[in-house]
Amino acid sequence: MSIQYDGQRQIFHLKAKTSSYVMQILKGKYLAHLYWGRGLESYHGSRALIWKERSLETNPEPKERTFSLGVLPQEYPQYGNGDFRSCAYGIRNERGSRISSLSYAGHEITKGKPTLPGLPSSFGDETAVDTLTIHMQDEIVGLDVFLIYSVFEEKSVIARSVRFENHSTQNLTLTKMLSMSVDLREDDFDVLTLYGGHNNERNMDRRPLTSGTVQIESLRGTSSPQQSPFMALMRRGADEEQGEIFAASFVYSGNFMATAQVDSFRNIRFQMGMNPWNGEWLLKPGESFQTPEVLMVYSAHGLNEMSHTFHCFFREHLVRSPFVRKERPILLNSWEAAYFDFTEEKLLELAKKAAQAGIELFVLDDGWFGKRDDDTSSLGDWQVDTKKLPGGLAHLEQKIHKLGMQFGLWVEPEMISQNSDLYRQHPDYVLHAEDRPYTYGREQLVLDLSRHEVCAYVVDAMEKVLSQARIDYIKWDMNRQLTEVESSFLEAGQQGEVFHRYVLGLYGIIEKLTARHPEILFESCASGGGRFDAGMLYYMPQTWCSDNTDPVCRMKIQYATSFVFPPVTMGAHVSVAPNHQTGRNTPLSTRAAMAMSANFGYELDLTKCSEEEMREITEQISFYKTIRDTIQRGRFYRVKNPFLENHGAWNFISQDGREVVAFYFEVLCEPAPAIQILKLKGLDEKAYYQELDTGEVYGGDELMYSGISILPEKQDFGSKCFRFQRI
Ligand code: GLA
Repeated sequence: MSIQYDGQRQIFHLKAKTSSYVMQILKGKYLAHLYWGRGLESYHGSRALIWKERSLETNPEPKERTFSLGVLPQEYPQYGNGDFRSCAYGIRNERGSRISSLSYAGHEITKGKPTLPGLPSSFGDETAVDTLTIHMQDEIVGLDVFLIYSVFEEKSVIARSVRFENHSTQNLTLTKMLSMSVDLREDDFDVLTLYGGHNNERNMDRRPLTSGTVQIESLRGTSSPQQSPFMALMRRGADEEQGEIFAASFVYSGNFMATAQVDSFRNIRFQMGMNPWNGEWLLKPGESFQTPEVLMVYSAHGLNEMSHTFHCFFREHLVRSPFVRKERPILLNSWEAAYFDFTEEKLLELAKKAAQAGIELFVLDDGWFGKRDDDTSSLGDWQVDTKKLPGGLAHLEQKIHKLGMQFGLWVEPEMISQNSDLYRQHPDYVLHAEDRPYTYGREQLVLDLSRHEVCAYVVDAMEKVLSQARIDYIKWDMNRQLTEVESSFLEAGQQGEVFHRYVLGLYGIIEKLTARHPEILFESCASGGGRFDAGMLYYMPQTWCSDNTDPVCRMKIQYATSFVFPPVTMGAHVSVAPNHQTGRNTPLSTRAAMAMSANFGYELDLTKCSEEEMREITEQISFYKTIRDTIQRGRFYRVKNPFLENHGAWNFISQDGREVVAFYFEVLCEPAPAIQILKLKGLDEKAYYQELDTGEVYGGDELMYSGISILPEKQDFGSKCFRFQRI
């Protein structure tokens, strides 16, 4: 059992393979955090809390001037009685009082992992995971709070969430309900976050934690490209290979916040959860509220180990799709090839070229429905445009299947264009504020998914699309942020619920569709990687990483995305040069090397490629097929950091350790270049590896510690790929 309870000292020890998490009940009521870090065989009390009078901190016990909630490392801190740091939850009762205080009321240890109703969450059977539920109570107000910790022992991951229950006779409003709060009694950390924007998602940001609060958040209704719902505290000096990392990833796709707060005694409070701004929830007597979960990962050996833990965990305990273990097809997407301007003939021409080159899936992107000749109309009218596709979807799909390829389709079901039949019939379906004008994004509006009938319409509309043709793949897009987030169908006191109700509505829709259609591979997208989070990955095993397909930009995007998400979850395509987003000209080989480092595909007009380019593309495709298993199911190691250097590199090792594939990228050609040394990672020191291109044999230790010399190219944006086989 990975959860131990010492009843005498009232200590909980959550014991995973390589990490420990220890809590203690003090004075029979306060739940204190004692330790999170490297795995301990057992905990005997060495890290005791030492009490002394600290300045003018306040005290809950009248005569005990040394005992203060203001310095107590708390497990789920409240507001109003002496802890002045960021609280983990907040309530307001009918009197308007916001004060609360929790006392320990019991606990339960169970095998396995409970599902979280209506929410995506990690899973595992009774051999993989144990769950501790600590019952805390505010007797005065009648609130019960259940702190849920699921320990995946073998994977060293703790999934944490909270359930609130109102056992009073009055309405309680939850004003803040974070999923995780941990007080670390140390302060020598940097904070790692992943920031960005559209076309520039997930940049690495590492900054020292000094005083005050570092907070990241989204208030856009989606997890957003601006900040990824991830935060890690890195011990100063920690890097890819060594040093301690404390990381948290949120299994949620809406507004969130993550905080690292340094208090006046240099302790750190590390928190993550739903964003409390416009995020209240009315809890009537007898009702309960479940928060989404946070996945907590501790690594004693730097970022690579943290990433391996996340990657492996997502594959085995989070991504629910049956495709998680299946080979992902190489696709051609029509978007950058044709945008809105196509006919069936043009698509078939493209598809023929794709099939000849060895592409396995043809994806028809935006523009196939309603009167969608540009992005100003038709979202909501999911009927095929027979001007473009006179035989309908089925006719096209059958022809694509005859070419030996699968058929995929783009949809954006959460949206409505004002110029659409749907809007003309149901203007009330729009998420809007009664007395205010709309705010537009890409000239489109958002459906009010907080309403059941709107969700039912979306499910129905999508089922009709899916029933028209044999569809093997769906790209589920979402191209604007949420504004006027109110719903006239809810009471005034519930308007703060709309953001979360939207996400719950969305989860309900995709739960139904993905469960009913396990044969369809779903890829999520939000103008690229605007909703790349563990919540969406639970339902859809891959995400379009970014609308930016320039390999120089992608080098950073894919590098930093890999801190949390495995390459098999990232869609990456070869597009035309000059690149449509940046105007940059890069070699076809580099564009392919970048896209091959993830879920490989193309997104350009193959009918305009020269014969030589088509030959190169055909070779790239057959090459990817030989390394696909290693890329999609192997272990991934970051080797050179493009945020710090003029280079980037990574390598993959197949599950059985026999295949090694390394990619190396250069940005600008330098005038007096240093010879670069590429030191591979994760190999067996004692084994020998043969380089497949040259036939040369090297020791694993040699490839890792002495490294491979690389002569920089005399051109910008060069790349190299090395492939080794263990002998
Ligand atoms: C978004 C997606 C693109 C493409 C367009 C279509 O921007 O990220 O890949 O599908 O929408 O409108």
